[in-house]
Amino acid sequence: MAEEKKGELGSELSRRQFFTKLGLGSLSIAAVGTAAFSYQYLEPNVLYEPSPVVNAGKPDRYPLDSVTLDVNNGIYIIHSQEGYFSLSAVCTHLGCMTAWKQELGIIACPCHGSKFEQNGKKIEGPAPKPLPWKRVWLNDDGDLLVDRSTDVPPLARDSFVRV
Ligand code: FES
Repeated sequence: MAEEKKGELGSELSRRQFFTKLGLGSLSIAAVGTAAFSYQYLEPNVLYEPSPVVNAGKPDRYPLDSVTLDVNNGIYIIHSQEGYFSLSAVCTHLGCMTAWKQELGIIACPCHGSKFEQNGKKIEGPAPKPLPWKRVWLNDDGDLLVDRSTDVPPLARDSFVRV
């Protein structure tokens, strides 16, 4: 009788231990999940964008009186008699990528027909503004850099790089 009672007590204890361990295991899993979500929540939600500064390489890549479109960066590098300068290649109407038309000597937008002079000035079409000039300078290695995020006054002395 005493043995039987001890056996029942033993099996009840092990059942209690089982449920205790199950409870602790569940709490541990919940704690790990909460910690993971808290970490994600506290982590800065930052969108890493590419730098607006483009290295256009050595200026001698651009012959005198040339207009070179950099499609990937949406800019023109222009080597004029006054020096090097850069224009945005994105049309000011609805944002289409423009193209240099060598045979006509103009920059043209294929979407709605806006046309621009080589210096960005609008000739015709629905574009409300000229193509903006971008800041250009030379770095210590002599590479031409363009800051796509900074507009500069068209035809101003400091808007050119002279080599
Ligand atoms: S987007 Fe260039 S003319 Fe409309």
